[in-house]
Amino acid sequence: MNQSPSTSLRARRILLGVSGGIAAYKTAELIRLFKKAGAEVKVLLTPDATRFVTPLTMGTLSENEVFIEIFPENESGSWTKHVALGLWADLFIVAPATAQTVSKLVNGACDSMLTAVALTARCPLLVCPAMDHDMYIHPATVQNLAQLRTNGLHVMDAEHGELASGLVGQGRLPDTSAIFDQAASILLAASRAKTGPLAGKKVLVTAGPTREAIDPVRYISNHSTGTMGYEIARSAARRGAEVVLVSGPTALETPEKVRRIDVVSTAEMHQVVMEHDDADIIIMVAAVADFTAASVSNTKIKKDGQSKSLQLEPTIDILASLGASKKPDQLLIGFALETDNGVANAQGKLKRKNLDWIVLNNPKEEGAGFGPGTNRVTLLSMSGAVIELPKMPKDEVAEAILESIV
Ligand code: CTP
Repeated sequence: MNQSPSTSLRARRILLGVSGGIAAYKTAELIRLFKKAGAEVKVLLTPDATRFVTPLTMGTLSENEVFIEIFPENESGSWTKHVALGLWADLFIVAPATAQTVSKLVNGACDSMLTAVALTARCPLLVCPAMDHDMYIHPATVQNLAQLRTNGLHVMDAEHGELASGLVGQGRLPDTSAIFDQAASILLAASRAKTGPLAGKKVLVTAGPTREAIDPVRYISNHSTGTMGYEIARSAARRGAEVVLVSGPTALETPEKVRRIDVVSTAEMHQVVMEHDDADIIIMVAAVADFTAASVSNTKIKKDGQSKSLQLEPTIDILASLGASKKPDQLLIGFALETDNGVANAQGKLKRKNLDWIVLNNPKEEGAGFGPGTNRVTLLSMSGAVIELPKMPKDEVAEAILESIV
């Protein structure tokens, strides 16, 4: 059954966290929009936000108690409201999110009810920054907002226009109707995800290359862009799974509703993967470096006109160690990049590494292998199934892989 964005708000529970910026007054209108659409709204004000809007206004509009400090004035009352509020919400919106509040969200500070609930909430978080233009484009803010996105939060871009300072630039709170639409589409996606075929399943995906250092400025790596792994993570999240994406260095944005953990070396990837080896499905898409330097120079190796040789030793095979300790009912999927005797080599890996499926691709074939474009893969299963997929864009390949395997 199709649901329109605004029907996704009926009876949904929205926490609105307001921090201390001039745009705070616009959130009064936002509460009215949510209430009109049938949502229940509770408001959290930072102490500074009360300079811009009063608890009385927000309480009257939301028809609910407004929360400010983490410790209540009446010390004999319950102080665990931050946990209860976090569990109550279907969506937590921080609007306006000032530079200060954004920085606190990045660092996990909990000095007010708003910041504490940001740590306890299990629902999606939508951050709507608003601040003066120079604060918005400052590298500290840019990095903080990127970090929030990496942490799996939804972050809207501030709008361009006249600012309270009199300057003109990017920094205005997005229009209340744009925040409303974004909230509705997040809730719609969340309700679809809860009913998706992978609801309740944890999926671990690795993506991108790993890098093995030679000295402080040089490394060995490969041409993986991470695209295939990111698309698989995105598809699994769309199907309702809780997705952890362990990523080597890439230039890609974190897919929505995916928790991404960045790593650099094979050893780091191995460590993080093992921390999540309880996943129901593990898909090792990463182009893991097979070799690492036997010794890493602490200082930059200088050129001296002499030839050099580099001693390499094998890295740990992450997939093989997962296969060796595979849990009952766990689905383990590997990738194979083969230029010759593809099917036979992939079948060998499937058995050797104790996998359920292996996805074979040939980097020499036109339109396959590394890069952002297309791929052509063959799926081989432990039970002998062979599924040849046609050349397709990588997002469609990801869909087809999940459809066939899961
Ligand atoms: N892989 C891994 N750890 C490694 C190397 C590879 O987990 N140190 C995983 C990859 O993520 C991929 C699969 O193993 O899912 C196949 O990798 P590939 O390099 O093609 O195969 P290898 O077993 O390393 O064999 P070969 O190098 O002979 O092709």
